[in-house]
Amino acid sequence: MTPSDPSADFRLDGRVVVVTGGYGVLGSAMARGLLGAGAAVVLLGRSAEKAEAAAADLDPSGERALGVAADVLDPDALAAARDAVLDRFGHVDALVNAAGGNVSGATLQPGESPFGLDPAAWRSVVDLNLHGTILPTQVFGPALADAEAGAVVNISSMAASRVISRVAGYSVAKAGVDHFTRWMAVELAKQTGGRVRVNAVAPGFFVAEQNRALLLNGDGSLTERGADIVAHTPAGRFGESAEVAGPVVFLLSHAARFVTGAVLPVDGGFSAYGGF
Ligand SMILES: NC(=O)c1ccc[n+]([C@@H]2O[C@H](COP(=O)([O-])OP(=O)(O)OC[C@H]3O[C@@H](n4cnc5c(N)ncnc54)[C@H](OP(=O)(O)O)[C@@H]3O)[C@@H](O)[C@H]2O)c1
Repeated sequence: MTPSDPSADFRLDGRVVVVTGGYGVLGSAMARGLLGAGAAVVLLGRSAEKAEAAAADLDPSGERALGVAADVLDPDALAAARDAVLDRFGHVDALVNAAGGNVSGATLQPGESPFGLDPAAWRSVVDLNLHGTILPTQVFGPALADAEAGAVVNISSMAASRVISRVAGYSVAKAGVDHFTRWMAVELAKQTGGRVRVNAVAPGFFVAEQNRALLLNGDGSLTERGADIVAHTPAGRFGESAEVAGPVVFLLSHAARFVTGAVLPVDGGFSAYGGF
């Protein structure tokens, strides 16, 4: 492969990428894609046991996968995780903020008044999805800025830009993630001459633990809401977790070196569709 081969620009050899929520459904698919592109991958979540098991599953040699435990809302735990990554690999080049998900109390139940949602649930879903993106960026950011080409990819959602009925707090939090992505991208581009980049992907609908019961019945058939979502997705199906990996690899890679502040839909056409 010569340096002029454009496919080389998509490789991540030698890069160390931290994935929060890295043993979740989408996070682990992204981690697998990143490993395949040549990166060393750090899987971060609240369970040390799950993080270590997922890292061992990803790379049994242990050379290019590490599991670390931290809560994305705990700056001290994040700093300890960052130090563990620097001890192990000597540098960290990229961060994927994938920890997140909905909190049922911040979703309107059928017949419930929009004025009645539990304030504590609102706060917890905004904390997890928005502050759980901001805090890791602050803690890992200085190390990324030391890298030759630091990059962050945040995991947003279609709920940030399109109103998904009943889903209140999560949507507000992800809209905050979109804006934080653009704000941080602009500040860092100005301060580093474009060397450090921040982007997001906005997945459409993928079956994961946090939303399985909403989308699928026990026998695997679509719930009414699942069928509604598929009907509004021109590709006619839910996404498969591996389909988020390619866009994340691209955004972290040299191929995307002039892409910053973008929120890339990965949604089978959901966001483009007018509904008929
Ligand atoms: N599935 C979809 O259709 C979809 C669509 C759009 C966007 N997304 C977004 O994609 C991301 C991944 O979601 P997923 O669907 O793959 O869900 P998932 O399978 O439930 O994964 C979420 C991961 O986040 C970790 N996590 C949760 N709270 C955490 C905390 N406080 N600190 C550290 N880690 C924490 C979880 O591990 P522990 O609980 O063990 O810590 C888990 O590994 C989320 O940001 C979600 O909002 C998903």
